[in-house]
Amino acid sequence: MNGHSSPADDHTVPVSPAGTGVGRVWWCAQRSPVVQRRGRLGTESVAHPARMLPDLAAHAIAAYSRPGDLVLDPMCGIGTTLVEAVHARRRAIGVELEARWARVSTDNLALAESTPPDTATGTAEGSGAAGSGGRVLRGDARDVDHLLRRECPGAVGDVALVLTSPPYGAGVHGQVTGTTTGVSKHDHHYAPTRHSGNLAHTPGRLAENMTRILAGSARVLRPDGRIVVVARPWRRHGVLVDLPGQVTACAAAAGLVLVDRAVAVLARLDDPTDHRHPEHDGAAGARLVVRASFFARHNLLRARAAGDPVHLIAHEDVYVFAHPREAGLR
Ligand SMILES: C[S@@+](CC[C@H](N)C(=O)[O-])C[C@H]1O[C@@H](n2cnc3c(N)ncnc32)[C@H](O)[C@@H]1O
Repeated sequence: MNGHSSPADDHTVPVSPAGTGVGRVWWCAQRSPVVQRRGRLGTESVAHPARMLPDLAAHAIAAYSRPGDLVLDPMCGIGTTLVEAVHARRRAIGVELEARWARVSTDNLALAESTPPDTATGTAEGSGAAGSGGRVLRGDARDVDHLLRRECPGAVGDVALVLTSPPYGAGVHGQVTGTTTGVSKHDHHYAPTRHSGNLAHTPGRLAENMTRILAGSARVLRPDGRIVVVARPWRRHGVLVDLPGQVTACAAAAGLVLVDRAVAVLARLDDPTDHRHPEHDGAAGARLVVRASFFARHNLLRARAAGDPVHLIAHEDVYVFAHPREAGLR
């Protein structure tokens, strides 16, 4: 399955004796991505090539933290994690390497913090005043613990939840604009220039870099805290890249233990008895409507035309890690 090996491949992932929640399914795309983001994220956010679904972030925050807790995203992009944390009355810190996304996430965080309590929807426990006092630090997540020690020392050891997602292949990213001669692609890069610290620009060192980020995150985590990593399997030149598998190996190398896992479905499950969808006669059963990017669909059609019987990737893997002592292993 994994077409690429990495130094972290040598590590066996320790699993909590209590086992993991294998088989959990998070339905994060029942509402369309546009609806999920409407009113919560500024217009420039749409230019980011790989944003997390707000309902996915909200679900992880509700499951693994409590109101008042501190949530950290060391690769925060446009700040989806921070925004959802604030709407759920958590405190939030983000780290982002690229100046543009650090600025956009700062704006998004400010928007969330200024949202009046009655429109801060969030989860049931989050409905109430939005959280405040969030911060976005522009910096390299590979030094996340040093960064926090320097910029927000009170956060060290106080982080209840780290929620993040590593960058992945540009082949499925981007917006599309129709022209008279076809379609043109834009907004498919994380940055205008390549930065050796950006994980998206150094795929050959992804395991090493991701291990550093997870190890640094573990050093600022509360003893009972959780690190949730959302990773999407994707294809490079038609070959499946097992990014989720790499993440679990990196976590093991960083001294973390897998305590839970889930599949976040990137598809809507239509209720066949819902008569607002007249194409469903009830007899056909439920129907999955995959929410895939234009380029994911385009690549699929090209691969199938070439005789490669591939399917759309319609999920992200969610891994939950903890300190070994908390997981009962030490
Ligand atoms: C998959 S995106 C995260 C998107 C985010 N979850 C959201 O919804 O906006 C990964 C982000 O990590 C950032 N990044 C890559 N390498 C980094 C590093 N070394 N330190 C901090 N941020 C980094 C990229 O610029 C990108 O914005």
